[in-house]
Amino acid sequence: LASIEVDVSAIQSGQAIKTIWRKQPVFIRNLTPAEQQAANAVPLSELRDPQTLAERTEEGRRNWLITLGVCTHLGCVPLGAAEGENKGEYGGYFCPCHGSHYDTAARIRKGPAPLNLEVPEYTFTSDTIVQIG
Ligand code: FES
Repeated sequence: LASIEVDVSAIQSGQAIKTIWRKQPVFIRNLTPAEQQAANAVPLSELRDPQTLAERTEEGRRNWLITLGVCTHLGCVPLGAAEGENKGEYGGYFCPCHGSHYDTAARIRKGPAPLNLEVPEYTFTSDTIVQIG
């Protein structure tokens, strides 16, 4: 019950999926090289909740960005994980409730949310299976 296993093999570069863990939405995103570069190019001094992409992903799997799909303002589910959804001004996620914009590392960049989308505990048990929780 506490953890789930997700097969990520069908998630292409540039795509994301939404799943549910402990009754909360979780986003699993396969970042493109350009999205990783965009995240790495941002000086930490520009961030409200300073964290590098490296701190938010695993060594050797920097393309896999796994976060809760819960806005840190008041808990709405941000857009941007599904095809065609608004990714906001920083190319990550956009919370339509009060206009919070998250970047390609799911870090808060604009709007009222105080913190980055939370990275849950997870482990890759193989190249294609991730256990969340
Ligand atoms: Fe997301 Fe308010 S709940 S901006």
